[in-house]
Amino acid sequence: GDRLVVAIDGPAAAGKTTVASAAARRLDALFFDTGVIYRALTLAALRHGVAPEDGLRLAGLARHLDIQVKPPSQPDGRFYDVWLEGEDVTQQLRDPEVDRAVSAVSAHPAVRRALLDVQRRIARSGRVVLTGRDIGTVVVPDADVKIWLDASLEERARRRQRDLAAQGIERSLDEVMEEMERRDRADAERAIAPMKPAKDAVVIVTDGRSVEEVVEEIVRLAGGG
Ligand code: C5P
Repeated sequence: GDRLVVAIDGPAAAGKTTVASAAARRLDALFFDTGVIYRALTLAALRHGVAPEDGLRLAGLARHLDIQVKPPSQPDGRFYDVWLEGEDVTQQLRDPEVDRAVSAVSAHPAVRRALLDVQRRIARSGRVVLTGRDIGTVVVPDADVKIWLDASLEERARRRQRDLAAQGIERSLDEVMEEMERRDRADAERAIAPMKPAKDAVVIVTDGRSVEEVVEEIVRLAGGG
């Protein structure tokens, strides 16, 4: 059948979205970033006054999360818009408040359990490239291709700093590095579905490599191009 799952995991700002979306285009596959689900839940929690520590209420929110993914309203290189409770929140998902709370929200076992089905449904929908932290290890352990995409902390912090600046948010490199390291540590050290490479993942470190080169390697591993 015409099924393909490419799982791309890795730490924050490793370039997963850039590389995965380009690879998806080349492989005639759907691209989906599972991080938006955790971010949408975190935004919903912030708005409804649910604390990032309150696993019980968060899991309740997760089970009833009113999230929709729609074609992009602006032709600015976005892949899709994300709607939460009837409102386009694509930009708010990148708010620093969400960045700060998302790891704590994502660490609750009941939250992850509640969000597993929707991710697996997407994974089974046809040809897909999925990005996240636990796609190759937990969400789709039988994925056709597993990639662990990484880059040095400094390189990743520079990229994140650039992305923030594009949103009009000026941050020092040290500040960005510290926050990113904190989030990566929380994601890697949580008890359930910690961020880590699958045993059979191909590790790609992107420092000093072009996007095209990395995309080419992934397309080749997926048997395309
Ligand atoms: O990839 P992104 O930075 O948007 O992910 C935001 C957060 O969502 C991560 O730091 C992590 O806590 C959580 N996440 C996760 N599992 C995934 C994707 C994201 O725990 N598959």
